[in-house]
Amino acid sequence: MKRTKVKVLLNSGQPGSEVLVKGWVRSKRDSKGVAFIALNDGSVIHNIQIVVDVANFDENALKSISTGACIAVKGLLVQSLGKGQSVEIQAREMELYGAADPETFPLQKKGHTLEFLREIAHLRPRTNTFGAVLRMRHAMSYAIHKFFNDKGFVYVHTPIITGSDAEGAGAMFRVTTLDDQKPPLNELGHVDYREDFFGKETNLTVSGQLEGELVATALTEIYTFGPTFRAENSNTTRHLAEFWMIEPEVAFNELDDNMNLAEEFLKYLISYALEHCKDDLEFLNNMYDKELIQKLHFVLEHPFQRLSYTEGVEILRNSGQKFEFKVEWGTDLQSEHERYLVEKHFQRPVILTDYPKEIKAFYMKQSADGKTVRAMDVLFPGIGEIIGGSQREENYDKLLNRVNELGIKNEDLWWYLDTRRFGTCPHAGFGLGFERLMLFVTGMNNIRDVIPFPRTPKNAEF
Ligand code: 4AD
Ligand code: MG
Repeated sequence: MKRTKVKVLLNSGQPGSEVLVKGWVRSKRDSKGVAFIALNDGSVIHNIQIVVDVANFDENALKSISTGACIAVKGLLVQSLGKGQSVEIQAREMELYGAADPETFPLQKKGHTLEFLREIAHLRPRTNTFGAVLRMRHAMSYAIHKFFNDKGFVYVHTPIITGSDAEGAGAMFRVTTLDDQKPPLNELGHVDYREDFFGKETNLTVSGQLEGELVATALTEIYTFGPTFRAENSNTTRHLAEFWMIEPEVAFNELDDNMNLAEEFLKYLISYALEHCKDDLEFLNNMYDKELIQKLHFVLEHPFQRLSYTEGVEILRNSGQKFEFKVEWGTDLQSEHERYLVEKHFQRPVILTDYPKEIKAFYMKQSADGKTVRAMDVLFPGIGEIIGGSQREENYDKLLNRVNELGIKNEDLWWYLDTRRFGTCPHAGFGLGFERLMLFVTGMNNIRDVIPFPRTPKNAEF
């Protein structure tokens, strides 16, 4: 007999039919010779109820079917008389795949804290919360590919191991096969990477953008969606050492087109979640953030506020608000500043543009004022920066000047500079932090709770 998923049974199961389900026991209670088992197989947040006439089963075998156990159940699907479910299964045969000793099974009781669940990340997919988050992660990944595919963008697989530093912003993770006890040394007594696997120093990528640009200046509209790595020692609720980033790059787009694409993209993803993740959203809304669904609708219904960094700084300086970090033109905005603009001042998502060139990456298009670059950051309520992007500098001389000013080695980037020597074109793109998006659509507060196995400083256990 073929197994049917719980989701299918609950949505369209035919009462009166014989069914087979397999899953994990969420709870079991006994009442006057009848046992009620709530079974979940992760296909949907809801459990299916199994009704067991205790007299028909071996007492000891039944005992082993406790919370956390994995079982298969054959039985008759019937209309449920109980509240909260349409159908239930009257068990005829049950098979125990794996027991879960009630004395030691860590998820014996409900209501564990998220902090505790992080310590048992190997088991937390079995909770309602992580089931919901992981199903939504999948739905959002699918929606991202669908959005770009429907528009004719090409998905490009950029390398994970790179010999360049795209952002120049933070530390990178080195990739090496050299002997860590006795590495070869060069004439200066430094590690000699010429002897390393790739014949040069290599790291895990911080962004697929530079390679993405190479392909966009041939296929016009591309995107990447892959893991990125940053070795910053930032232990915050918004930073991971390994996170996923979506980076569209479009030839012939300028900054306005880039902003339009970013806004359309985010709104598409949010409406996709509202349409396709109803059950999980309702659960998360009830459990973690009573305004979650309302907030998602709100973002869809309002245009993002667009203004320059300079205007943003003015607003912050005139706000009368006391900030931990002082706001001055030329310094990077802290998340307290970003959130003031979004949550207090405009009360909607904000796109800040035209940042001082000193606080942004070398590749951004330089403006005529000589001070700013055509950058854009999309700031979201409760999150701060969710997207960072820009129009790119397509002029070879200007780009080379900036590279030299910043002391970046030309020999690491000659291939990138070449795109400006041969058939250069205006182009623009951005990066969406996938886990920051997941924070927003799930209403979770800590980025460690929207990725199955978080990588953060001192944490790579699971
Ligand atoms: O602003 P960032 O550093 O921009 C880039 O990497 C560009 N190459 C993107 C581009 O133009 N193609 O990073 C982009 C986004 C941020 O806005 C944030 O959402 C996310 O990536 N992000 C992180 N998410 C989790 N943990 C971290 N440590 C992150 N660093 C950046
Ligand atoms: Mg950024």
